[in-house]
Amino acid sequence: MYIKRAAVIGSGTMGADIAYVIANAGIPVVIKDVADEALEKAKAHVADLFQTRINRGRMTPEDAQKRQAFMTFTTSNEDLKDVSLVIEAVSENMALKKRVFQELDHVLPPLAIIASNTSALSVTELAEVTGRPERVAGFHFFFPAHMMKLIEVISGEKTSQETLETLRRFAEEIRKIPVSVKECPGFVVNRVLMASMAEVLRFQDESGVPYQEIDQAITKAGLAPMGPFVLGDALGLDVALEVAHTLTAAYGERFQPGPQLEALVKDGHLGLKSGQGFYSYR
Ligand SMILES: NC(=O)c1ccc[n+]([C@@H]2O[C@H](COP(=O)([O-])OP(=O)(O)OC[C@H]3O[C@@H](n4cnc5c(N)ncnc54)[C@H](O)[C@@H]3O)[C@@H](O)[C@H]2O)c1
Repeated sequence: MYIKRAAVIGSGTMGADIAYVIANAGIPVVIKDVADEALEKAKAHVADLFQTRINRGRMTPEDAQKRQAFMTFTTSNEDLKDVSLVIEAVSENMALKKRVFQELDHVLPPLAIIASNTSALSVTELAEVTGRPERVAGFHFFFPAHMMKLIEVISGEKTSQETLETLRRFAEEIRKIPVSVKECPGFVVNRVLMASMAEVLRFQDESGVPYQEIDQAITKAGLAPMGPFVLGDALGLDVALEVAHTLTAAYGERFQPGPQLEALVKDGHLGLKSGQGFYSYR
């Protein structure tokens, strides 16, 4: 199936970036959120991304305007009536995602694919609340989606080959590199990333070594381009905690995050997006 018009549900950290990537590839995209404030923030973020490309001489202002015009920001399901692919990027919460999937199943054309950008939740469980489980899959972008090339294409138990092929082709059309992954909690990348994150948090809690020193040690050793605490703040600590809970429930103790993450989220410190996380951004 050829995707002529796509939609992204949730215009937060990931949704806004994903919609930008799709529009930048010249494909019309609807971006829907329940919060006007989130949509306004997403609009400003997308405008910044296009402006950066103009400033770097990679795009003319006319071209940027043309691509930005491919985006429709909305709070209404009416705008989803003629889309053939939806990428769900609402908060990492199974009950919420199930409600969104049920709603989408009712408003979307029967042949439309519903994909989730979930970091670790079961695609099969999400598919079960719809009447089209063969058209449900995972389509997992990495942060920041406008820079990271990889997309994990995750098949649930009932996902059809046709759906997987459409998603792989779509990934290439938006200039990403798809890898096919069979479903398991955390898929491939987050399973590895969150295991190391849990160990780093444990080490920090036991040793009391400041976050900054650990971040420096990791980057200077060339283990990662970004330290784990800088990365955690950028990803969103609420998302990281949810993923850690999912993986702990699936694999046990070794994914148990240190007490710092729970404490920060409990106090509303979600990282970059709230102005305070492991570090302060105020
Ligand atoms: N943050 C990351 O680095 C990252 C990376 C890869 C995947 N993910 C996954 O992407 C998803 C979104 O994460 P995020 O970090 O962008 O979250 P976020 O908290 O930044 O944004 C979530 C958005 O969803 C909106 N929303 C909530 N309920 C909604 C509904 N019913 N309909 C429409 N919009 C609704 C919220 O208003 C908010 O704008 C999660 O499943 C997460 O695990 C996150």
